[in-house]
Amino acid sequence: MSSEDRFMGNLYQRFPINISRGKGAKVWDNEGREYIDCMAGYGVALVGHCNDRVVRAIKSQVEKLIVCHMSAYNDTRLEFLEKLAKISPTGLSKVAFSNSGAESVEAALKFARKYTGKAGIIAMTGGYHGKTLGALSVTHNEKYRKPFMPLLDLVKFVPYNDRARMDEEIDDSIGTVILEPIQGETGIIIPPDGLLQRIREVCTSRKIVLIYDEIQSGLGRTGKMWAGEHWKTIPDIMCLAKGIGGGIPMALTLAKPEIIDSMKIGEHSSTFAGNPVACTAASAALDALVEDRLVDNAAKLGKYFKDGLLGLKDTHKIVREVRGLGLMIAIELRFDVRDLLLDGIKNGILMLYSGRNIIRLLPPLVIDESMVSSALEKIDKVLTKEEERKNVK
Ligand SMILES: Cc1ncc(COP(=O)(O)O)c(C=O)c1O
Repeated sequence: MSSEDRFMGNLYQRFPINISRGKGAKVWDNEGREYIDCMAGYGVALVGHCNDRVVRAIKSQVEKLIVCHMSAYNDTRLEFLEKLAKISPTGLSKVAFSNSGAESVEAALKFARKYTGKAGIIAMTGGYHGKTLGALSVTHNEKYRKPFMPLLDLVKFVPYNDRARMDEEIDDSIGTVILEPIQGETGIIIPPDGLLQRIREVCTSRKIVLIYDEIQSGLGRTGKMWAGEHWKTIPDIMCLAKGIGGGIPMALTLAKPEIIDSMKIGEHSSTFAGNPVACTAASAALDALVEDRLVDNAAKLGKYFKDGLLGLKDTHKIVREVRGLGLMIAIELRFDVRDLLLDGIKNGILMLYSGRNIIRLLPPLVIDESMVSSALEKIDKVLTKEEERKNVK
């Protein structure tokens, strides 16, 4: 047990690694060992650890102003909002700040309910939106939900890839549909072509607010700025968090103006929202994404990574499937992945799991070809070891 555990509630599945330094797509532990970071703080280190632009921006801001509540104006915040407006999906022109993914989902659910006046929500089987009570109500996994029942009661879950069920479940009580364009936590589940377009059409025709949770899939992760772009669809509300603050806690709920305008002053707020340090870090993160062409890099290196993994699938029987878009990739195994992840750490690569038997890779978008090649070698090695352990020939 690490000495940290003496003080902490037992809330996280933890790994035997103590990270003390990071740069780009690599981190180092407190004994100086180097790791390729395909975990990236669950996708937060999107523009790389200690990105130069982000570090410079934070250093300069903390000398000037650290605190500025939303009730006052601030030029650093304005600069960020102007940059964000340039990359936001058409029509999502109004923003609410918050500090974590779950909070941005809470805001989205409230905005949609206020605008439509309807409490009914459709969410997806396998969907993950966070663990506060509202976000948990639209998160599907029983393991997370069960101990906290009753949650919001007018939520129906429909199978992520079943067009017909969606039509059946929609009635006049439904004001909101919420989904991840690509499901992350459940194991990088990509919707069949046509599904998101169909849901978009249904929501438009029935005047239902469509929320895309792009917390994991957004900001270039999948090789396009927004995962919804792969299917040429734009939601009415979009949730962002993880990498938006360059590593600093920040989240956003973007919405069509008429939706946010249905809220009255005071009906939603958060003390830390729009904090200038987070805003300057987020401006720098957007500069990195746009000026360093990281979205293109995610598309190119994502393909290289996935092709390499598909090659490994041919030589390793324990691999059931490799799937993903850009640098949001899953390797589904026939067995539990925990030992393999621990082996990864021993071999200098950090990876995530999604459920029991899926490895999830969310490396920083600054990763380069040599690092991906090295990651592939390490994954090859740990797969071989796992096959020996499981006696798979
Ligand atoms: C799609 C999605 N929505 C919401 C969340 C919750 O974000 P947070 O952990 O910052 O509350 C996550 C976190 O992994 C996520 O992947």
